[in-house]
Amino acid sequence: MIVDYKPQIEEQEIRQEIKDLQKQLVEMRRRLHQRPELGFQERITADLIAEKLREWGIEHETGIAKTGVVAIIKSSKSGPVLAIRADMDALPIQEKNDVPYRSQHDGIMHACGHDGHTAIALGTAYYLSQHRQDFCGTVKIIFQPAEEGPGGAKPMIEAGVLQNPDVDAIIGLHLWNNLPLGTVGVRPGALMAAVECFDCTILGRGGHGAMPEQTIDSIVVGAQIINAVQTIVARNVNPLDSAVVTIGKFNAGNGLNVIADTAKMSGTVRYFNPALKDYFGKRLEEIIAGICQSHGAKYELNYWRLYPPVINDAAMAELVRSVATEVVETPAGVVPECQTMGGEDMSFFLEKVPGCYFFLGSANGAKGLNYPHHHPRFDFDETALGMGVEIFVRCVEKINGEIDHC
Ligand code: NI
Repeated sequence: MIVDYKPQIEEQEIRQEIKDLQKQLVEMRRRLHQRPELGFQERITADLIAEKLREWGIEHETGIAKTGVVAIIKSSKSGPVLAIRADMDALPIQEKNDVPYRSQHDGIMHACGHDGHTAIALGTAYYLSQHRQDFCGTVKIIFQPAEEGPGGAKPMIEAGVLQNPDVDAIIGLHLWNNLPLGTVGVRPGALMAAVECFDCTILGRGGHGAMPEQTIDSIVVGAQIINAVQTIVARNVNPLDSAVVTIGKFNAGNGLNVIADTAKMSGTVRYFNPALKDYFGKRLEEIIAGICQSHGAKYELNYWRLYPPVINDAAMAELVRSVATEVVETPAGVVPECQTMGGEDMSFFLEKVPGCYFFLGSANGAKGLNYPHHHPRFDFDETALGMGVEIFVRCVEKINGEIDHC
């Protein structure tokens, strides 16, 4: 997405005390960047988080859903419990950036910015712990493992992170190189799509390439299925409901004169409307079963749901939007056209409590910091770290007007 907006960093309303934290934020982010870890293996990461929280005298618990950490910051006044969620895992990618803080773990890289999310959450924890008189209620900071898969949000919820004290609302952000530094992408309702996946094997009957009458050609059956499933989006789903069906893998056959016995395909389904939850798996199977039956082939289908859609609560999205407008200092810096068919397991938290997930623009083309997420040269403008802390802190200070009074 191209947004025609030039950020004016010097105009941003970041308070001096958070500007003074910038050096520490960058240090923490780079330490994390050098030691990236895959989902549920974030031990060095969790140790660094715990080390900082201990140093700052912040109450916390470690080892939740394997490597998760939760910090609790109580203000001096009673009030709502707001959770802030940060994910902390990296990806199986070999870093190609030549920077002093490049990954020291072979084949693993923070190529999505979760190192930045962790640093922002830590900076927020530190600031709030130093300003307990400036907000009401309690802030719970959730450092979550394994967002990139298999998903750490659900096991953390099952481990009780939304209880004791019970969380009233939740916010979270993703550094976003699809938006320039100095912008915030936020909107009520659907922000990111549900993620569902499938594997299908077509069981035909192999044989000689010159004698098709003796066979059931799994490639021909598979090709018809690939074409037919396109009609799920084109002809079955309401055109006003955005959806994607992608078959990203199709493997069959070994010899040019051999009719393949089996064909395997795998794909992913994306959609925003939670009411479509049971639709795609059912429709996909109807199409596969019908085509297989017409050819005398059989099939094996595995269909599973990974993440539900990320749906923002209207009041919480308005809270973030109003705060972001103050911080980026111009309504043009707040971008509601920021939906993506990408997925996120923040959605599990948002199914349980009202909340808002938003994008913090972090690309800076002038510095070459505009590679896409999950690219081996991904990096972001670290100026966004302080902005993230400022936005989180302002949400904490402002939320009482939205939920409760203290
Ligand atoms: Ni990510």
